[in-house]
Amino acid sequence: MTRTSLWCLLAGFLVSTSALSPSLVKHSLPDIPSGWAELQNASLDPGRGLNLRFGLAQHRFSQLEALLQNISDPSHPNYGQHLSKEKVHALSTPANDTLEAVERWLTIHNASSVKWSSSQDSVSAVLPVSAAEDMLSARFSIFEHAKSGHRIVRTLSYSLPADLLPHIDFVHPTTAFFDPLRHGMGRFVSDGDSQPAHASVSHLEKRPVVLNQSDFTSCVSVVDPPCVRKLFNIGNYTPDATLNNRIGVAGYLDIWARPDSLALYLADYVPESIGSNYTMDVVNITGPFQTSTVSDEGNLDTQMAIQVAFPIPMTYYTTNSVPPYIPDENQDGEVPGVNEPYLDFIDHILGLDNPPTVITTSYGDDEQTVPLDYANAVCQGFAKLGARGITVLFSSGDQGLGTGELSACIANTGNNATTFLPVFPASCPYVTTVGETIGLSPQTAGLGSGAGFSYYFDRPWYQDAAVSDYLAGPANNNETTLQASMYNHNGRAYPDIVCTGGGAFFDFFFNRWDLGGGTSVAVPTTASMVALLNDWRLRNGKPTMGFLNPFLYGVGSKGLVDIMEGLVDGCEQPGFNATSGWDPASGLGFFDFEKLKSLALL
Ligand SMILES: *[C@@H]1O[C@H](CO)[C@@H](O)[C@H](O)[C@H]1NC(C)=O
Ligand SMILES: *[C@@H]1O[C@H](CO)[C@@H](O)[C@H](O)[C@H]1NC(C)=O
Ligand SMILES: *[C@@H]1O[C@H](CO)[C@@H](O)[C@H](O)[C@H]1NC(C)=O
Ligand SMILES: *[C@@H]1O[C@H](CO)[C@@H](O)[C@H](O)[C@H]1NC(C)=O
Ligand SMILES: *[C@@H]1O[C@H](CO)[C@@H](O)[C@H](O)[C@H]1NC(C)=O
Ligand SMILES: *[C@@H]1O[C@H](CO)[C@@H](O)[C@H](O)[C@H]1NC(C)=O
Ligand SMILES: *[C@@H]1O[C@H](CO)[C@@H](O)[C@H](O)[C@H]1NC(C)=O
Ligand SMILES: *[C@@H]1O[C@H](CO)[C@@H](O)[C@H](O)[C@H]1NC(C)=O
Ligand SMILES: *[C@@H]1O[C@H](CO)[C@@H](O)[C@H](O)[C@H]1NC(C)=O
Ligand SMILES: *[C@@H]1O[C@H](CO)[C@@H](O)[C@H](O)[C@H]1NC(C)=O
Repeated sequence: MTRTSLWCLLAGFLVSTSALSPSLVKHSLPDIPSGWAELQNASLDPGRGLNLRFGLAQHRFSQLEALLQNISDPSHPNYGQHLSKEKVHALSTPANDTLEAVERWLTIHNASSVKWSSSQDSVSAVLPVSAAEDMLSARFSIFEHAKSGHRIVRTLSYSLPADLLPHIDFVHPTTAFFDPLRHGMGRFVSDGDSQPAHASVSHLEKRPVVLNQSDFTSCVSVVDPPCVRKLFNIGNYTPDATLNNRIGVAGYLDIWARPDSLALYLADYVPESIGSNYTMDVVNITGPFQTSTVSDEGNLDTQMAIQVAFPIPMTYYTTNSVPPYIPDENQDGEVPGVNEPYLDFIDHILGLDNPPTVITTSYGDDEQTVPLDYANAVCQGFAKLGARGITVLFSSGDQGLGTGELSACIANTGNNATTFLPVFPASCPYVTTVGETIGLSPQTAGLGSGAGFSYYFDRPWYQDAAVSDYLAGPANNNETTLQASMYNHNGRAYPDIVCTGGGAFFDFFFNRWDLGGGTSVAVPTTASMVALLNDWRLRNGKPTMGFLNPFLYGVGSKGLVDIMEGLVDGCEQPGFNATSGWDPASGLGFFDFEKLKSLALL
């Protein structure tokens, strides 16, 4: 039994050429993804509106990437010289011929509700199914997800006219089949195997007894801000609320976070907040649509993010996809919010003059369920956030190297190969991915903590040495042949770092409490500490940390506590042992804040 299950308790140039130019396949799936079935007998109204997003070719991305590499390298003279909003927009805006071609194509097909992103790197539009099928040489149908009953309109393949192919990176959601049941990464005591996350919490409907804050032994079963201070050597460091510093917490899938719940948490766990009237800002980028949603994940994420960072300002951003432009859009039961609308979120943040300095996100999907071209655009978006000086943190997930059973660890490439299941965006090289530790003295690698090697993204420069050393080193010597065939040895490897996975009490619905655990505790807790590092840099007249990985794998590694005990597993394989230096079980280790503080000023 892994720890995961234990926790269950508790836009042609020319009209004519476009129309005549042959279509070339942009993306196609070999089969209907497992867990989904096409509703053969349900007819899809050809007039029904589809909301599609077209991603435009990013001809200057390599330039942005080269700049990012320099400004995030502590040893480079340009370290910390983050790019302005205007500069990132300029590097994101497609070439004029691309803009013209795409605009013309949408116009000919009578696209409505055409909405361009702020740097024009993508455009969303509503098209009738019949027009979309014509434009993309696709056949859309209704697919149903067996376990949840959710229905979506998708195609198994789509093509682009040859003359548009160099101008369009992706059309979304065409071939994207995300798992609708995959919500946040948190594990909650109130989770049952089959019931909704918040169905039965009678035993927690009272406020939990607050720990004796001077007694560290109480941290053994539950983590709270004093424990976090102790575990990560934060001491009594107190940040300044008046610096240009802000924590951003991202929420998706109709999940919301309540300011009144945050107030209860602060009153009980952050005594220095009493009398301050501190509250978070909430920005609904799109949605939420179902305002009754009781949200474990949103409340857990915001409450953990403020733990040691009070009184740094915080904003919760809720983003849902498929805004209801057309009233009958959901007539076939399509649930809003299952398209993981990272691009709406990224676009919003890139439009801000003063964006948050750190953003924490506890969501993810199996990488193979996210079409490569779309994943690539989202990952480029995170690189843009990094270039603005924002630290982008993602949870590694709570499924180890995949799921429990080997039979569920199957590649969707058509050959049913056995494979580990990396998670995206954790697998994007431009985010800092956080796994969880278990136990407190010592903290060891968490068996169920998400880990893996991307099939989509090559191993980036900053971790090449660390990861090659691990794969060739003694800790991995006795790997089985099967396991060695189950991952991409040249892929971006994660997690980068780890942090405690709890448990931690939080208020999940005004005056109802729950105990949360997993990487949903680990990643916002890390954000709370990154906010402190940013405070420290700002206080010393320096820019914020920004894209963190080159620092962490470089000079910053001396401020991390290496974990050499434990392992990570999954798919009934032996897994990967923790060892000195980077390993899949515990990344580079966890924060020693006091040391990181000094290293951050070098
Ligand atoms: C359509 O087929 C599904 C099974 O694929 C079945 O459950 C449903 O009842 C059918 N609906 C109609 C209207 O025939
Ligand atoms: C990055 O730094 C290197 C070495 O200092 C320099 O040669 C290169 O031109 C820089 N790249 C960019 C895009 O500024
Ligand atoms: C692209 O179009 C803009 C606005 O029409 C114009 O200012 C700019 O010079 C054009 N750029 C190129 C490279 O043609
Ligand atoms: C677009 O709309 C015009 C005017 O309503 C119509 O004549 C034309 O056939 C439409 N084009 C397409 C591709 O539907
Ligand atoms: C809290 O713990 C400390 C150290 O164990 C102990 O001295 C103190 O009495 C405890 N306070 C309360 C209110 O239990
Ligand atoms: C908090 O709000 C109350 C009531 O509006 C006000 O009296 C008090 O001065 C505020 N406290 C702070 C620290 O701003
Ligand atoms: C965001 O949505 C929630 C839930 O519908 C609502 O209560 C809240 O007022 C909204 N906030 C803003 C700033 O629009
Ligand atoms: C892969 O597995 C599916 C479901 O079991 C099966 O229908 C399909 O034939 C298999 N494909 C191959 C190439 O074995
Ligand atoms: C991990 O360590 C155990 C115990 O030392 C060993 O049996 C196993 O082979 C190691 N795993 C790998 C992949 O080397
Ligand atoms: C692991 O491999 C080494 C040689 O690389 C060998 O000496 C050792 O006995 C092996 N350990 C186990 C547990 O198989």
